[in-house]
Amino acid sequence: MASTLPPLPHVEGTDSSRCVLDAFRISAATRISKSLGISLADAFAGVDLGKKGNDFTVAIPRFRQKTKPAELVEKIVSEFTPDEYIDRVSSDGSFVHFGCKSLPLTRHVLDQIHAKTQAAGNKQSESYGSNVSGKGKKVIVEYSSPNIAKPFHAGHLRSTIIGAFLSNLYTANGWDVTRMNYFGDWGKQYGLLAVGFERYGSEEKLEANPIMHLFEVYVKINADMKKEKEDGVPEVTDEKAKEVFKAMEDGDEKILGLWKRFRDLSLKSYEKLYTRLNVGFDVYAGESLVEPAQIDNAFSILKEKNLLTTKTKDESRPDWDKKRAQMKGGAPVPAPVQESVDDDDNDQSGLALAVDLEKFKLGKPVIQKSDGTTTYIVRDIAGAIQRYEKYHFDKMIYVVGDQQDQHLKMFFKVLSMMGVPFADKLEHINFGKVAGMSTRKGEVKFLEDILDAAKEAMMAQMKSNDEKFKLIEDPEETSDQIGMTCVKIQDMQSTRRTAYEFNLTRMTSFEGDTGAYLQYAHVRLCSIVRKVAPVIVLRTDPSQINLELLTEPKAREIVYLLATYPDTVKTALRNQEPSTIVSYCFKLSHLISSAWEILIVMGQEQELAQARLYLYTCARDVLSSAMRLLTLTPLERM
Ligand code: ARG
Repeated sequence: MASTLPPLPHVEGTDSSRCVLDAFRISAATRISKSLGISLADAFAGVDLGKKGNDFTVAIPRFRQKTKPAELVEKIVSEFTPDEYIDRVSSDGSFVHFGCKSLPLTRHVLDQIHAKTQAAGNKQSESYGSNVSGKGKKVIVEYSSPNIAKPFHAGHLRSTIIGAFLSNLYTANGWDVTRMNYFGDWGKQYGLLAVGFERYGSEEKLEANPIMHLFEVYVKINADMKKEKEDGVPEVTDEKAKEVFKAMEDGDEKILGLWKRFRDLSLKSYEKLYTRLNVGFDVYAGESLVEPAQIDNAFSILKEKNLLTTKTKDESRPDWDKKRAQMKGGAPVPAPVQESVDDDDNDQSGLALAVDLEKFKLGKPVIQKSDGTTTYIVRDIAGAIQRYEKYHFDKMIYVVGDQQDQHLKMFFKVLSMMGVPFADKLEHINFGKVAGMSTRKGEVKFLEDILDAAKEAMMAQMKSNDEKFKLIEDPEETSDQIGMTCVKIQDMQSTRRTAYEFNLTRMTSFEGDTGAYLQYAHVRLCSIVRKVAPVIVLRTDPSQINLELLTEPKAREIVYLLATYPDTVKTALRNQEPSTIVSYCFKLSHLISSAWEILIVMGQEQELAQARLYLYTCARDVLSSAMRLLTLTPLERM
C-alpha cells in the first residue's frame, strides 16, 4: 500500500526527503505560479501554513499584481485541478486555501517519521524534523559559564538551559556546532581566593566538594577584606589579592599550580552536574585560557588603530590632562567612570587604559588596569580573536543574561572598531531575569541545590497521589528527571526576554502546561504500545498498514500537526526561541489527549487497531524528538 508520489519541480531550500510537506506545498505553489504567471519560487514563498482547518493559505495581494486580487483568486480557483497532493481549493476574500489529499499526506508523513526515527536513533541531525540548511557552516555556542568560587545564579541556569537547547537546534538545522563553556576563573577575585585558601582552606574539603568549599573560602576572605575597609585599617587583604593576581598574570608557577587545582576540581564537579542535567560541552574554555599573546595582539591592534585612551578614577588629577594629551595628541573633556560588569575592573588607583565608546553611549570600558593587569572585557576581546583563529566560525553566539547587554555591546563594538573580519558574526542571545530562586534553605547558590530542590518538590507532588506513587518503579530517578523537566520547561516556555518568578510548586504541578504534564503525555503514548502488546503488535513493515482506515478528522489533524514539525524546527532557528518548540510540544500533547476517546486502539479489530497504533507511535516519536531537542529525557514510565 506504499505509494510513490508523482515528480515535482524543485524549489530552492526545500527538501521533501526530510519534510514531505514541502512536496505538497510545491504542488500548491505550481497552481499559483501557472495561474498568475509568476515564478515558482515566488509563488512558493507565498504558501503559508493554513489556519482553521485549512492546510495552506495564500494571501494573493502579496504578489503585487496589476490585476485585482479578487479576479486573481477567481482565476486560481477556476483553473484548479486536483492531483495526488492537493485535492481541493477554496477562497475567502483575497485568500486562497488549499487542502492536501488526506491519504497520500497521511501515508507519507507517517512513513517519513517512522523511517527517520528508525534510522536516526538519538542523533539530532538525522531525526525527523531536522534539515541540512546549515550544511558546511560552523557555529560556536558559548553558554553556562559559571564563575569558580561564586554562586551559580539563575542567570547561569538560564544560560545553561537555553544554550544547550540552541546547540541542539543548530545541530538539527545542519550546522556544525561547538559547545563551549567559558568559566569565570581569572581576575583579582582569584588572587583573593588564593589568599583566602591560605587562610581558611582545607585540602580535605576541597577534594570532597570543591564548589562548596571554594565558595566558603571566598565568602570568608571577602568578609575580611570588607572589614578592613570599614575599620579604616590598612587594606592588606586587598593589596595581597592584587599582588597575587599580578603574580598569576606574570606566570608564577606556585600560585598557578594551586589555582589550576581549583579550576580542575570545580570543572570535574560541574561536569557531573551537567551530565545529570543532560547538557554537554565540547570545550571547557575560560577567562584564564585566553592566551597572553592574544591579549598582547589585541593591544597592538588597539594601539595601531589609535583606539586607546586613558582613564582615571580621580579625573581631576593634575597629570591627567598631560597624560591624556600624550596618548591622544589632544585633551578632550574626560569622561565619568563607567560601571563595569566585573566588580574589580574599576578599582584602578592610577591611570588605566580604556577605549572611548562615549559616542555610542557605551561609556569608556577599561582595557588594562593601572597595575597592568587585564580586565573582563579585554579577555573577551582577545578571547574572541583566539576562537576565530582556532575555529574559523561562521557565527558565534554568547548566551548571557540581559544584565550584561552593555558589556556585550561594548566588546562587540570594540572588535568592530578594531576591524576584525568576524565582527558581524557575533551574536548576543540574551534573556530576562529570574526572581526568587530560593528554597526552604534560602537563596539558591549552587546548581546542585537547584536540581535537588526540583527533585524534592516533584517527589512531594508524586507522593500526593498514594495509589499512583506505589506503582512508580524508580521514584528517585523519576522525580529527578521530571523535576529537571519542570525547571527547563518553565524556563523555555515564554520568550527568552521575559523575566519570570521561580516557583517550584507551580512548575512541578501536573495541572496546566508544565514539564510534568509533558512527561506524562509522552509516558501515556508509550504505555498504549505496552498495554495493547498482548493482542496487537505494530507490523514492522508499515506498508502493510491500511491507512485508509484513519477516517476521523482528529486523525487528520494529528497527521497535519506532525507534518509541520520540520517547519517548527526551522522557525525556532529563525527566531532562536525555545518557546517555539515548547509550544509545539504542548499543542501536540493537547491534541493527543483529546484523541484518546475517539481513536481507541484497545478492543478494536486488528486492521483498525494497527492504523491507529501507527499514528500514536509516530506521534510519540515526534514528541520524543521535540523533547530531546529541548534537552529533556523523555520518560517511558512514571
Ligand atoms: N562568567 C560570566 C558571569 O558569570 C559570564 C560569561 C559570559 N560570557 C562572556 N564571554 N563574557 O557573569
